Amino acid sequence: MNDTLNLLHSHRSIRSYSDAPVSDEMLDQIIRAAWHGPTSMNAQEISLVVVRDAARRARIAELAGGQSWIAQAPVFIAVVIDFHKTDLGVRKAGQAQVVHESMEGYGAAAVDAGIALGNLMTAARSLGLGIVPIGGIRRNPQGMIDLLELPPLTFPLVGLCIGHIKDDAQLKPRLDISTFRHDERYDASAYPTAIAAYDQAMLAYWQQLGRSDGLSWSQNLGNNLKQVYFPQLKPVAAMQGLLNDK
Ligand SMILES: Cc1cc2nc3c(=O)[nH]c(=O)nc-3n(C[C@H](O)[C@H](O)[C@H](O)COP(=O)(O)O)c2cc1C
Repeated sequence: MNDTLNLLHSHRSIRSYSDAPVSDEMLDQIIRAAWHGPTSMNAQEISLVVVRDAARRARIAELAGGQSWIAQAPVFIAVVIDFHKTDLGVRKAGQAQVVHESMEGYGAAAVDAGIALGNLMTAARSLGLGIVPIGGIRRNPQGMIDLLELPPLTFPLVGLCIGHIKDDAQLKPRLDISTFRHDERYDASAYPTAIAAYDQAMLAYWQQLGRSDGLSWSQNLGNNLKQVYFPQLKPVAAMQGLLNDK
């Protein structure tokens, strides 16, 4: 395997960071890795807000539901859907932007945000840094909008902690690859067996880490997916003009 594949195959989220700062040069290289990424229609409807100030990171940790690693890691990057930027181009062309009100617009922007997040993670990890993505900023999106001073037609979709690793994490097992890769046509027949095996593997994983609170995959999903876990997304996005009604 080459270095890139080794890096991607060894992904793990890090939730323990040292005080060591991330240099400006490293941060610039990481951000440029996302900036060079592709975007749907070349719309470039993504912006990054870099937060290094400790008090502001502490506030984000609080908004995300008390995630201490956001306050600990020296860099937090918010990945923002930015239809404000595209609106300026559309207006310059003498047209009125509509796509920000549509599911197509939201879906395309969410994909592009995911690509930006992926490039940020790969770039940071290639420099030996640790990362953890943070969807928890959608718990209180209005708080994030206020903190980052985001204008209408924007939305803080996801964030990323970056820093030097203090305590490394173990690779988390995955569902069998037969549940992920389908050749030629979709086939879910192996799912029940794979899920049963994975539930056992996750319980063993938590036990090995000494985590008595660890749940199986199914139990964890049951707790999380039985409700819309971040219900503020839809109303706050609508207040930002991202109506999602088309
Ligand atoms: C979009 C996205 C949002 C996430 N949000 C959070 C989060 O708010 N807090 C957190 O601690 N981990 C978060 N994670 C990390 C996942 O919990 C983690 O990727 C998953 O448990 C698999 O573990 P691994 O990354 O160590 O392999 C997020 C991951 C993704 C991809």
